[in-house]
Amino acid sequence: MVELSLPKNSKVQTGKHHAAPAGAKNVRKFKVYRYDPDTGANPRTDTYDVDMDTCGPMVLDALLKIKDEMDSTLALRRSCREGICGSCSMNIDGSNTLACLKPIEECKGEVKVYPLPHMPVVKDLVPDLTHIYAQLASIEPWLKTETPTPASGERLQSPEEREKLDGLWECILCFCCTTSCPSYWWNGDRYLGPAVLLQAARWINDSRDEATGERLDQLEDPFRLYRCHTIMNCTNTCPKGLNPAKAIGDIKKKMVERAG
Ligand code: SF4
Ligand code: SF4
Ligand code: FES
Repeated sequence: MVELSLPKNSKVQTGKHHAAPAGAKNVRKFKVYRYDPDTGANPRTDTYDVDMDTCGPMVLDALLKIKDEMDSTLALRRSCREGICGSCSMNIDGSNTLACLKPIEECKGEVKVYPLPHMPVVKDLVPDLTHIYAQLASIEPWLKTETPTPASGERLQSPEEREKLDGLWECILCFCCTTSCPSYWWNGDRYLGPAVLLQAARWINDSRDEATGERLDQLEDPFRLYRCHTIMNCTNTCPKGLNPAKAIGDIKKKMVERAG
């Protein structure tokens, strides 16, 4: 397991303790990062004793129970609760993952919940994704064509061409990988990071796209692509089982092939 460091504002103090309801017999402790930059107070961790007999099995179930029944001030993102939307990514028990897919019983001792590491925090478990979304927009993640649309209205792919997108299209942009990448921690202002580079690979590999050369030109830069040093945290942490390090390696290979 990859132990990750705390968010940028990390002087964390011990905060409030919220006891379980009287009579609860099966209690699990959740230690949750709390920070509201608007108050000027230091970050803290609050402890919540959750009654597991009335709680669902996933960490997201516990966080929503805490918010609904114990402390409505806790802020977090979530939507689908089934690993599809990518909203509930956070650092649980030392690893970046999706709270809705992380079984509580897989966590050791107190369940420690932090926002994605090395990101500015909007509030509590909600990281500020403004910069990372701008990086995503910079690779123009959409189909680019110059030739006229065929009369059929469809740009067809063979099964073999379509297969080249497997392992790429499944990405849900949760950014667990990017925020576990040491190169991104230190150079995230200019290095695009594994999630955005995997998206770039998704379009570079698309047989229907007609901007491959332009896309590679845009990545040919000592920082945007070449800060990846194949440390593999990204691949080890991806909750969808994808391999961003390989996608980055494939882009680098294409750079060499076109140069040679
Ligand atoms: S393989 Fe590259 S992108 Fe992945 S964690 Fe390592 S440096 Fe970051
Ligand atoms: S590659 Fe995996 S970890 Fe990275 S953004 Fe996509 S789904 Fe999330
Ligand atoms: S709530 Fe959508 S991925 Fe977890």
